[in-house]
Amino acid sequence: MLRIKTALRYARRFLSNLDQPALEAEILLCYALERDRFFIKTNPAHKINDLNTLKFLYVLVQRRFHIPVAYITGHKAWSDFDLKVNKHVLIPRDETEILCHHILDTQPSPTSILDIGTGSGCISLFMAKHFPASKITAFDISHKALKTAQKNANTYNFSNIKFQYSDLLKTCPQESHYDLIIANLPYVPEKLPISSEVSKEPSLALFSGSDGLNHIRRLKDQLTSKKIAFQQLWLEFLPQQESSIKKIFENYKIQFFPDLENKIFFALIYSSSHTLPQRSPQKPQQESQKSSLK
Ligand SMILES: C[S@@+](CC[C@H](N)C(=O)[O-])C[C@H]1O[C@@H](n2cnc3c(N)ncnc32)[C@H](O)[C@@H]1O
Repeated sequence: MLRIKTALRYARRFLSNLDQPALEAEILLCYALERDRFFIKTNPAHKINDLNTLKFLYVLVQRRFHIPVAYITGHKAWSDFDLKVNKHVLIPRDETEILCHHILDTQPSPTSILDIGTGSGCISLFMAKHFPASKITAFDISHKALKTAQKNANTYNFSNIKFQYSDLLKTCPQESHYDLIIANLPYVPEKLPISSEVSKEPSLALFSGSDGLNHIRRLKDQLTSKKIAFQQLWLEFLPQQESSIKKIFENYKIQFFPDLENKIFFALIYSSSHTLPQRSPQKPQQESQKSSLK
């Protein structure tokens, strides 16, 4: 029988194609043994039974082929939540949590919220926690994503989120009103290089035409043609898309916010009657850097 110390040594070597093989080996062994890292660190001589050895080997092979850890373990810690994730949903990103905190800072008490492209449901869960009195509608075009999001909402007993199949705003009645609309839609340009790990996430959640903005353009057209009213609309996108976003929403008042590393941008779009607050948005140091998606 293999001991923890030996298993970790083999695993580090096997995962040497990754950035942090030692850390990854420990995380995967914790998963295989259903133990925490303290146990792994303090019991190097512990013998691993055959079943757990097989489980460890299986997850090591998956990881070596760049299957994201969150898909292997089926969980992602995001904000205060432990979210169920699978290959049908985007793994929630740290940047999206920053987006949610920007929303908290600017939108004290929305009563109606629409989350378009809900994926794992992360944004809706965050809003349900911070605005418990609000009524939340969450749309996605993937039935499997909606199922996962519903499970996540059930885990935290959020009954004020209604998950619904919709191609953007297609199922939204004409002239609906929402205090807050959040749309973290696919925004990756089709030819932008993406890492091997990101390529394991659903294309439906990533790509949006040659400049990455097809979904956002369609959303803007639907907002106009259906006369959907809102106080705030929040979008997430890449820094190099800032000027195009400005153009798409040229008839609206708009503010931009960067994430902590200026890699992802957020736009806050107000209905045209709104007066912009005085606070000037933080500006990135580098404009429009072209990057690949890690
Ligand atoms: C970038 S992911 C965001 C997921 C989640 N909101 C998050 O922040 O992690 C985009 C989501 O939009 C969904 N989507 C793609 N096209 C859509 C469409 N036409 N209408 C509604 N949802 C769509 C995808 O299935 C995916 O779940």
